[in-house]
Amino acid sequence: MTVQASEHDGLHIDPYEKRWIMLSIILLIVFAAAVAVSAFAFGYQVPLPEQRVNPLTITESGPFANPGLRELAPGKYEAYIVAHIWSFTPNEIRVPAGSTVTFYVTSQDVQHGFLIQGTNVNAQVLPGYVSKLTYHFKKPGTYTFVCNEYCGLGHQAMYGRVIVEAP
Ligand code: CUA
Repeated sequence: MTVQASEHDGLHIDPYEKRWIMLSIILLIVFAAAVAVSAFAFGYQVPLPEQRVNPLTITESGPFANPGLRELAPGKYEAYIVAHIWSFTPNEIRVPAGSTVTFYVTSQDVQHGFLIQGTNVNAQVLPGYVSKLTYHFKKPGTYTFVCNEYCGLGHQAMYGRVIVEAP
C-alpha cells in the first residue's frame, strides 16, 4: 500500500476504508430511523421504572396495599398489580372495550415478568421498582397476561387475564 498525501489536506483515507466509513454512517441512520418508526408509528414503549417502593411494606401502605383497578374517568383506568411467587394480585381485571389502562406492576419477592399476550405490554417486574405501561384495549376479548421471567418452580402457573367487555 502506498501512502499518498491528499491534494486538499494532509489526511489520506484508503478507498476501502472510506467505503466502510460510509456504510457505517448509513447503518447508523437506518438504525436511528428504525427506533423512531417503532416508537412513533408502532407505539413501542420502554417500560420505565416509574418509582421505587419498599417490597417489604407494599402490602401495608400505598397503592399496592389495595391492588386492583381504579377508574380515573370514563374509559380511563389505572391497574395496580402485585407479582409474587407464583401468582398476580389481582389475577383478573374487567374493563369495557375502548378503555385505556395504565398498569403499575411491582414484585413482592423475586424477579418476575409481565406480558399481556397480543399487545405490546411487556415489562420486567423487579422487587423495589414499579414498572408502568399503558395500553388502549380497542377490541373486546380475553387478554391473558403471563409471567415471562423464570421465577422458580411455579413459574409456568403464573398468569391472569384482562377481560375486555363489549360496551
Ligand atoms: Cu413469576 Cu415467572
